[in-house]
Amino acid sequence: MPTVKIHKFNGDIEVGDVNENTNLVVAAGIRQFPFPHLRYGCGMGQCTKCKSRILSGSENLPEPNWKEKKLLGSELDEGFRLMCQIWVTHDVELRQEKPKRDDG
Ligand code: FES
Repeated sequence: MPTVKIHKFNGDIEVGDVNENTNLVVAAGIRQFPFPHLRYGCGMGQCTKCKSRILSGSENLPEPNWKEKKLLGSELDEGFRLMCQIWVTHDVELRQEKPKRDDG
């Protein structure tokens, strides 16, 4: 069972376990962990609100798909991923950066 560790804007760290092959945005959408700790929007790889910097566990994530490549570009090289496009199978640690304008 993968453990997900989320570093929040205020420095808090939220930790929880998810089932193998969990999409964190889908889980949050049905009010399971990591709700309410994960920021997300469309759930379809269009808005980038779920953008997260992977702090550890990136080696266990799938290769970025075309939506991630299109929306993140060089940010992929900085360790960012779109969590709505990823199904988690191993432990992962991530941080979402504070948006310039927090509209949800
Ligand atoms: S939630 Fe919109 S791109 Fe991931």
